[in-house]
Amino acid sequence: MRVDIRKGFVDEPVDPELDLPKEIERLKKEKKAVILAHYYTTGEVQDIADFVGDSLALSQQAARTDAEIILFAGVHFMAETAKVLSPGKKVLIPDLNAGCSLAESCPADRFAAFRAAYPDHKVVAYVNTTVEMKALTDVTCTSSNAVQIVRSFPKEQKLIFAPDRNLGNYIKSVTGREDMVLWDGACHVHEEFSVERIAELKREHPRAKVLAHPECKAPVLLLADFVGSTAALLNFCGRDDAREYIVVTESGILHKMRRQYPDRTFIPAPPTDSSCGCNDCAFMKLVNLRKIYLTLKYELPEVVIDEEVRSRAERSIRAMLELSE
Ligand code: 13P
Ligand code: SF4
Repeated sequence: MRVDIRKGFVDEPVDPELDLPKEIERLKKEKKAVILAHYYTTGEVQDIADFVGDSLALSQQAARTDAEIILFAGVHFMAETAKVLSPGKKVLIPDLNAGCSLAESCPADRFAAFRAAYPDHKVVAYVNTTVEMKALTDVTCTSSNAVQIVRSFPKEQKLIFAPDRNLGNYIKSVTGREDMVLWDGACHVHEEFSVERIAELKREHPRAKVLAHPECKAPVLLLADFVGSTAALLNFCGRDDAREYIVVTESGILHKMRRQYPDRTFIPAPPTDSSCGCNDCAFMKLVNLRKIYLTLKYELPEVVIDEEVRSRAERSIRAMLELSE
């Protein structure tokens, strides 16, 4: 039977009485599949996943799984990274429309022209990039290891950092590598957080600590008690004794925080324009149980990558994994 995925996902009626978590579990076993989910997906998606993590942990997991199928509950660049690392496995994504505004802000052809102006620079690129961009990269990084990766280059080595200008500026401030050249990209979710709204929340909750993701703008990071990747923010709570936190990143992480620390209060920081509700990543929220069920059932949509591009991209991701061991 030919399955129509022109919408970017399988769209067929599903019996509303069907117990989706149970059916997903059954299909997973039958097909030897593993579900990897990012912290920004919805709580119900995180709850049926075999592994929930940040970008670094998910790529490490994708590199070591012995499952035959990887279903990536997250955005497209994450599923691509899994396919680059496990080319012999079938990698599925529930909705091909789950992109990333940051990855899209750095098209590989424009970046290649930009890089040509800096022939003696090495390229460090955030994992939030397309596979074609990773093929132009020397070492990939995630928000967990970006500082460590940049520090792994000798001081004299000139660097380009792409695509996130906010993470790039944060790395510059921590490492003192003022001459690092930045690509001018950003994530629409993290760019929306406002100093005024966070300061207001701090006045309402004077004891709350502010936790922020390094994709936020510099003035927002200045208000933070701790800056780190999603996993680092969670781990920080484990060694900290505050009872209240203002969380300045995508709201999906609150699910895990509240589960892991039920005796504490986590307050999501509102974006500048609260009517747009955009501390949700609309791309991550495209993934739901119905799409996961249909994706497993039909093994579609599948992530397919040109082998030449894949093998060049693999070098930059493996370089990161070796440095992060
Ligand atoms: P992490 O590295 O914390 O997983 O961040 C991924 C991401 O997309 C942030 O917007
Ligand atoms: Fe991309 Fe931003 Fe969504 Fe992360 S939160 S996946 S960087 S659009």
